[in-house]
Amino acid sequence: MAEPTVPPVVSLPTPADTRSFGRGLAALLRPGDLLVLAGPLGAGKTALAQGIGAGLGVPGRVVSPTFVIARVHRGGRVPLVHVDAYRLGSLAEVDDLDLDVDLADSVTVVEWGAGLVEQLAEARLRIEIDRLPDSDERQARLVAEGGDWADRLASMPALPA
Ligand SMILES: Nc1ncnc2c1ncn2[C@@H]1O[C@H](COP(=O)(O)OP(=O)(O)O)[C@@H](O)[C@H]1O
Ligand SMILES: [Mg+2]
Repeated sequence: MAEPTVPPVVSLPTPADTRSFGRGLAALLRPGDLLVLAGPLGAGKTALAQGIGAGLGVPGRVVSPTFVIARVHRGGRVPLVHVDAYRLGSLAEVDDLDLDVDLADSVTVVEWGAGLVEQLAEARLRIEIDRLPDSDERQARLVAEGGDWADRLASMPALPA
């Protein structure tokens, strides 16, 4: 039996590094992908989503969707659906958002979505961002959940072995 793989941990010393990591990650993304971003307030979930948006070629700025819960950014290689699930109590409420887009045609990035939105897709990439004490550095742990995520992560050039 194959050894369970240790999730790669990426060091992100500055906000620019977090955005740049998101840009790199965007190159792996395709329609139907679901990314679940976990981590405390200020961890850098939105910063990472901004990098992903930039990498997908979304025009304009990706800002925190906190007060609207979800935003659809068109005009890039793939539509980006950016969700802040902080105020959502259930998956049903995600469906009820009545987004004017099919998630199968989009890349969906959900902040605060752990334990809530997993069923939106058969597979997903979970990214857990931790803050290090007394430092700006963040560490992102990438957890492949089904599909071909493990292979895709392995093909990502900037990841540690
Ligand atoms: N290494 C880093 N990566 C990402 N953000 C950082 C980093 N260091 C400092 N920051 C700051 O932390 C904050 C992260 O905010 P944000 O991305 O909105 O977090 P979240 O969406 O997880 O609540 C920003 O003010 C950003 O400038
Ligand atoms: Mg945020």
